[in-house]
Amino acid sequence: AYVVTENCIRCKYTDCVEVCPVDCFYAGENFLVINPDECIDCGVCEPECPAEAIFPDSDDRATPWLEVNSKYAAVWPNITRKIDSMPDADDWKDKPGKEAMLSP
Ligand code: SF4
Ligand code: F3S
Repeated sequence: AYVVTENCIRCKYTDCVEVCPVDCFYAGENFLVINPDECIDCGVCEPECPAEAIFPDSDDRATPWLEVNSKYAAVWPNITRKIDSMPDADDWKDKPGKEAMLSP
């Protein structure tokens, strides 16, 4: 499965959701997740993210986020269409330490 990681937080560009063939993205207040059980590993979302926040679970950068994606995919609503990015998304892109800012 592919998973969404830290750099999505406070950016939430949502380009990723438009291309997913199985609509397995779920939206929180300032972060998106993929349901790893629904993802079919097609990989098309990865290059769509302007923040480069999406990685396959085989990538070390994805490992700590797999559980986060599973957890929130179970409770957040499904999202299938692009919406406006977060205010100041471009300012928050690539900032370190965003994990603590994730709104549950
Ligand atoms: Fe959807 Fe494919 Fe991305 Fe998985 S890899 S979340 S199936 S677009
Ligand atoms: Fe987040 Fe990138 Fe999608 S910032 S909402 S994973 S396009």
